[in-house]
Amino acid sequence: MDILIVGGGGREYSMALFLKKDEAVDKIYMASGNGASSEFAQNIDIKDFDKLADFVVEKNIELTIVGPEAPLVDGIVDVFKKRGLLIFGSSKNASRLEGSKIFMKNFLKKYDIPTAAFIETDEFQKAEKFIDTLELPIVVKADGLCGGKGVVIASSGDEAKEVAKDMLSGKSFGEAGRSIIVEEFLDGYELSVFAVCDGKNYKILPAAQDHKRLLDGDIGPNTGGMGAYAPTPLIDEDLYKKIENLVIKPTLSGMTQEGCPFEGVLFIGLMIVGGEPVVLEYNVRFGDPECEVLMPLLKTPVSQLFYKAAKGELEDLDLEFYDKYAVAVVMASENYPYKSSTPSEIIVDKSVHEELSGTHISYAGVSKEDEKLYATGGRVLLSVGVGESIKEARDKAYLLCGQIHFAGKQFRQDIAYQALKND
Ligand code: AMP
Ligand code: GLY
Repeated sequence: MDILIVGGGGREYSMALFLKKDEAVDKIYMASGNGASSEFAQNIDIKDFDKLADFVVEKNIELTIVGPEAPLVDGIVDVFKKRGLLIFGSSKNASRLEGSKIFMKNFLKKYDIPTAAFIETDEFQKAEKFIDTLELPIVVKADGLCGGKGVVIASSGDEAKEVAKDMLSGKSFGEAGRSIIVEEFLDGYELSVFAVCDGKNYKILPAAQDHKRLLDGDIGPNTGGMGAYAPTPLIDEDLYKKIENLVIKPTLSGMTQEGCPFEGVLFIGLMIVGGEPVVLEYNVRFGDPECEVLMPLLKTPVSQLFYKAAKGELEDLDLEFYDKYAVAVVMASENYPYKSSTPSEIIVDKSVHEELSGTHISYAGVSKEDEKLYATGGRVLLSVGVGESIKEARDKAYLLCGQIHFAGKQFRQDIAYQALKND
């Protein structure tokens, strides 16, 4: 079958990379793809959903898979479904779980799913009053999509008020900040749990851990994610069961009651506080970099998972994973996450790289010119290692990092440290 992947980051590149190895897949199109995906997929530059649907009809593409949140929140799935096209992703209404933090928090409250105490408001006085009741630090979030940057953890009440004021006035995030959430800070460790859903059934994937802060030891500014690994030992059967019963099941039945049964990837960002799962946020797509560590672990052909989910046939799927671990280290450009950097050529010591079994690169912010690859985005690429243990996977990923060169490259040295601290 021919497949279209919407998106062009590391997440979509990794989906394409593993779909390419899948016998059931013939041709892969990517809209837009990136400078490296053009090596094995056809990149197309169509953004308008109707025009993209025209392209799918013209090329007889059987399945479309949507990677990023923006097209989902903007309703690509609804446009494709109206035209009878098979697409994997959440509807516009269901995507409110990610597109509006206020919808998400009210949903959590309504269906009694554990989450941090909060208020939502578009009035500064209300925010100020609630801030005065909270212990430090205090979390302030813009309602709309801000590319992962709309959450501020303020260390004083005055800072929280300042942040709230700047968001509400439109100064920080424009319209996306005109309404805000103020919430209590949760102290625990974070987990990313993914369930692939078809509106009726779901399959839970191995839990992953992301590293959101820029610097080693989880300090510095929040980023889109500097590395991930899966499966994580920070979860056991008991916690999986709690997450399934206290979070996943009520979320899916709640969405059905709201009239928008959930199809696509339900990504639950959890804080584990004293052994109990508390929902920080939902996303309606795979995490990036989490997707890059989940794709290599899938034993079931990737196309089957997406195809059956899009068809509403997940119940028939026996989803299998390799009994292995994957670690991905994000290599970012010099000025990430503050501002863009001067493009620089990427050189990979190919002779060594090819000899290393169980490693690969997932390209993200790259473009191609005269057959050369340039680092042009913030998160440039991911060095991925797969092994029999987290340590082996981590060591392979870092060995590969040492063979990838571009001016100003930066990456964390401690990905997976929480899982390895007793080793
Ligand atoms: P979000 O986009 O809501 O997931 O927030 C981004 C990041 O901010 C999360 O991954 C957490 O690291 C942190 N964060 C968000 N909300 C809280 C909270 N209530 N307590 C502690 N950390 C939080
Ligand atoms: N890795 C976090 C995210 O994709 O939102």
